[in-house]
Amino acid sequence: MTNHDKHSKLIESLKGKEQIKILFVCLGNICRSPAAEGVMKDIVEKNGESEKFYIDSAGTGGWHVGELPDKRMRVHAFQRGYNLTHHCRQVRPSDFEDFDIIVAMDENNRRNLQSMAPTAEDEKKIVMMADFADPSLHYDHIPDPYYEGSEGFELVLDLLESACRNLYRDLRAIG
Ligand code: 4NP
Repeated sequence: MTNHDKHSKLIESLKGKEQIKILFVCLGNICRSPAAEGVMKDIVEKNGESEKFYIDSAGTGGWHVGELPDKRMRVHAFQRGYNLTHHCRQVRPSDFEDFDIIVAMDENNRRNLQSMAPTAEDEKKIVMMADFADPSLHYDHIPDPYYEGSEGFELVLDLLESACRNLYRDLRAIG
């Protein structure tokens, strides 16, 4: 079983939905999750499916609420063709009602989300982003680039592009 097969039950449960709502979550909502949002939006737009998906991002922490993504992430993303315009917001309990899939970037995010989930059923919506990345990349989480150099941001984008491509493929497979 590949890692993303772990989530086949959740993905199968979305079959027939008019719109699939995905929330990407990291700690600060200024590096990893707004980049994931930008990459996923680009994929669905290029496939002419902007209406089929609602995509957003949020942070478990609230230090940067209202801010655009970190300048370094915006620059690295722009070099790959992504224009990141999300304004930082914190995760709220209603996100568990409003979204179908809640994608955590690392174990810390996952734990925080789990403790916020209003019901056990809501907890099942939480998945790990790295479960969808190609196993050849050898990462079980999306590493926080905040205190890293350029390579950290490039690594995050490599992982996010792979994971978003595979997540989209899995979601399209259910029709
Ligand atoms: P992110 O990175 O979780 O990928 O947005 C971080 C951004 C800001 C902080 C930590 C991580 N911070 O401590 O302010």
